[in-house]
Amino acid sequence: MKSRKTDISEKKPTIRILVLNGPNLNLLGQRETNVYGTATLASIEERVREECREVGASVDFFQSNSEGDLIDTIHCAKNNYDVIIFNPAAYTHTSVALRDAIAAVAPLPVIEVHLSNVYARPEEFRHKSLTAPVCVGQIAGFGPLSYVLAVRAAVALLSEQGKCS
Ligand code: DQA
Repeated sequence: MKSRKTDISEKKPTIRILVLNGPNLNLLGQRETNVYGTATLASIEERVREECREVGASVDFFQSNSEGDLIDTIHCAKNNYDVIIFNPAAYTHTSVALRDAIAAVAPLPVIEVHLSNVYARPEEFRHKSLTAPVCVGQIAGFGPLSYVLAVRAAVALLSEQGKCS
């Protein structure tokens, strides 16, 4: 069979995804398993890696319990990634600084994810997200699948914006 030459100018770049996880998510699998389930962060990252392979995206992961490290990572992401998938964990409900960091790197899209449906949780403080208003959207309540859905949302969003095929 004749091979078709690919016109390089036609080829859309690979989407670069950063998956960022906030405090205490390093303890997934052993932490409040009745709420967050038994999947470890490593196993969630493996699922995300698989999804990214399927959709042809590159992916890096970073988890920190420190607000400052998360802020620095968001700043650095501006020139190195096309989208951030971010579970700010407890900082969702408290951190003006993280909200400002997300706003500061606009138009870099940030998709907020949560394992649990924060709006269905008994603690009222979880019903408000300080970070969601500066994100493109939020996916919550699907357990580890929230992250996989976020990858799909990221690809759909960027292809709508013409940034990938
Ligand atoms: C969480 C929900 C937050 O309220 C909580 O502080 C977390 C995890 C989630 O993924 O469901 O640490 O972000």
